Formats: sequence, structure tokens, C-alpha cells
Amino acid sequence: MIEKPALAPPAEIIRDTLSKPSIFEDEQPLSLEYLPTRLPGRETQLRFLAELFRSVVDKPGTTSPKVLITGDIGTGKTVLIQRFGTDMIRTAKPLKLNLRYIHINCREYRGSLFMILKRVLQNFTTTFPQRGFSSEELLQILLDQLEDKNLHVILALDEADMLIKAEGGSLYNLTRIQEERPGRPTRLSLIVVVRELKLLEGLDRSTQSTLQRNIIRLDRYSAPQLETILRERVDLSFKEGTVPETLVSFIADMAASQGDARYAIELLWRGGKYADAEGARELKPDHVRGAANSVYPILRADYAQHLNLHEKLILLALARVLERSNENYATMGDVEIAYRMACEEHKITSRAHTQVWKYVQNLGASGVLSTQISTAGYRGKTTLLGVATAPASAIRKWLESGFKATMP
Ligand SMILES: Nc1ncnc2c1ncn2[C@@H]1O[C@H](COP(=O)(O)OP(=O)(O)OP(=O)(O)O)[C@@H](O)[C@H]1O
Ligand SMILES: [Mg+2]
Repeated sequence: MIEKPALAPPAEIIRDTLSKPSIFEDEQPLSLEYLPTRLPGRETQLRFLAELFRSVVDKPGTTSPKVLITGDIGTGKTVLIQRFGTDMIRTAKPLKLNLRYIHINCREYRGSLFMILKRVLQNFTTTFPQRGFSSEELLQILLDQLEDKNLHVILALDEADMLIKAEGGSLYNLTRIQEERPGRPTRLSLIVVVRELKLLEGLDRSTQSTLQRNIIRLDRYSAPQLETILRERVDLSFKEGTVPETLVSFIADMAASQGDARYAIELLWRGGKYADAEGARELKPDHVRGAANSVYPILRADYAQHLNLHEKLILLALARVLERSNENYATMGDVEIAYRMACEEHKITSRAHTQVWKYVQNLGASGVLSTQISTAGYRGKTTLLGVATAPASAIRKWLESGFKATMP
């Protein structure tokens, strides 16, 4: 007779796990919130950015630079501007220049300029009426506030893809408003970050040319660049001698096809977790392979946190259709049917077609899914939806487990 292994009580498993030594010294430098002190591979871009903003510290009030930054996922757009903003403020301090850097993630505000400006204004005043203002008026209030308080602001609009999709026209106001106040010092500079440069084509010519005048493109990282980035993080977060040199280049190679530093760092962190869970004394290739198997960019927490319930249900529907059909794309019609079924399953009232269509466009704008118009092989013209960033089955499992955790 085969003896069944005794089942350890959960508390014992947890106690046992935590009592084992970890190969990590400090996980924080591998977290999403960590702002590295150095940016290997981005020195040139940092230098150029500083050059573009030179006049803001040299001759405050004379010019207000407007800079566009673009690049694929994980190419360091956010970290570049945060590092720049933070260090720029430090530089301005001894010069007695009242300079602030305000970082806004447009995705968090669903691309609404009104909500974004409200958030910006909260930095300066708590006493403006909540309703009855247009975003243009809020912008004027903001400029008045800056004048009253003798402040200069670098406003960074990160993930502005969402803003352009939702209300591209409002960028015109942002880029032009100060010209409508001639003779007064300019106090608001802009850094706009977009992943998809193509989106600019939808803007008016004047805004396009303003933004394209100062453009910084971030290429995907090469394997050697990723290796340098990883090496710095290894030194900060792992105990000495626990991560062999060859493994750092192994991870860099794995992430190089995407050129995505976030993915590389996540592989390192998760690999370390696998090593710890096994009680290993150092990181091994199989820990990293295991990590690669379980980390698909689209399934990462930072992507999911901005999806609303219906967007998640649509994504779940799409994953189910794709998994069943084993095709590259699913038609919008099939996805909608599956979406309604998913709503029913979770006892949620489904949204009407136009709203679903809007959600699909949101998901497309934030890169979660891809859309295209059918050509051959379909009856009539229909929109086709696809996901290229993870297997459909992985997306389905991920979403289903999420619903189980959050649904009553
Ligand atoms: N040159 C670099 N040096 C050190 N760390 C970097 C560098 N570039 C990126 N990183 C790190 O990689 C991760 C991803 O970078 P970041 O968030 O800036 O990418 P992004 O281009 O904004 O991506 P997304 O398009 O998804 O917003 C972050 O943890 C960041 O700290
Ligand atoms: Mg970013």
C-alpha cells in the first residue's frame, strides 16, 4: 500500500517557509515603485531632456518647453521623466527657483483632462468649486494660481495615449493656453509620454507640430543594456554570491527580444522567489525559466489595476473565444456573445453595444488587446480582436481566478 504523505497544516507550511533563509537582501529595489538613482542606457536622453529645459532654470518665465517622449513598453519612459523631474527640482532649489514637478498617470484618470487638472490643482488649492467648470477654465485657474504663488511647474502626462484617445483636442489647449496670455511669464512646461506615436496623427496639425518639435524616442533595450540595468539591481537586492554572473546575462538575453526592462527585472525578482521557495542557496537557470513561464506582460498587476469590471469581462470573453477556436483573432460579434454569457455567469448586467465598443477601444489604446478590420475570409467587414502578449488560456485562468477572489 502506498502511504499518503502527511498533510502539513498551513500554519506550519508558512512558518517553515519563513524560517528558511532568503537569497534576497532587500526586495524593494526590485519593486515597481523603486526609482533607481542611475539610468544606464538613458544618459544621452537625460542629457537632451536637461538641455531642452535649460531655459526654465536659466531664464525662468521666458519659455515653457513641451516635450514628447515615446517608446515601447518597459523602455524607461516613466523612470526617465521621474528621475529627470526629481533631480531637476533638486537643481532648482539652490537657485531659489520655485519649481515643481508633477507626475500624472493619465490612465488613472481615464484620459479625462478635467480630472487630471483637478488633481493638479489640488496641489495648490483646496478651495475651488467642484462643479460647473470646463477643463479650459480649470487650466486658466491653474495658471492664475501659479502666478499668485510665483511657481513654475513641469507637468508630466505619463501614458497620455489614454488622454489622446479620449479627448485629443484638449492637448491643443494645454500646448497653446499660455500664448493666449501674452506679456505674462510662462510657468507651465509639459512632458507628454505616449507609447504609440501613431496616435498623434489624430491630433490637429498645430498640436502635432508643437509636440514633434521636441521628441525623444526610447528604443527597446539591447541585451547588454538590460544586463547593466539588472546588475545594478542584483547588487542592491540580493545577498552576495547568490546570483551567478552568467545568470544575469541569461535573463538579459531572455528579455532582449522585448527590450523591456520591467520584464527583465520581474524575471529576476520572481526567479529569486522560486529559488527561495525551494530553499536553494543561489539562483539557477530553472528558477528563471519557471519565472518566464509564469510572467506574461499582460498579466502583470500593474496592467490589471486600471481595468474596470466590464473591461475585464470583455477580456475574459475574448480569451475564451480564442482558446476555443484556436485562431489568431476573434470577431467582435463572437466576443460580445461570450461577454454577455460571462456577465450572466457573474450576475452582472451587461452593457449595451456602444459602451462595449468603447471599452474595446480603451483596451486597444492601453495595449491590452489589438484590433483590426477583417479582410479576406469573413463575411462583410467586421472588427477582429486579438491578444499577442500572452496565451489565451493564461489570460482566462488569470481573470477567472481574479473573479473568484473578488466576487461574492
Ligand atoms: N535605464 C534604466 N535603468 C534602470 N532601470 C530602468 C531603466 N529603464 C527602465 N528601468 C526600470 O524598468 C522598469 C520599467 O521602466 P518604465 O516603467 O520606466 O517603462 P515605461 O517605458 O514607462 O513602460 P510602460 O510603457 O509600460 O509605461 C522600471 O522598474 C524601471 O525602474
Ligand atoms: Mg510608464
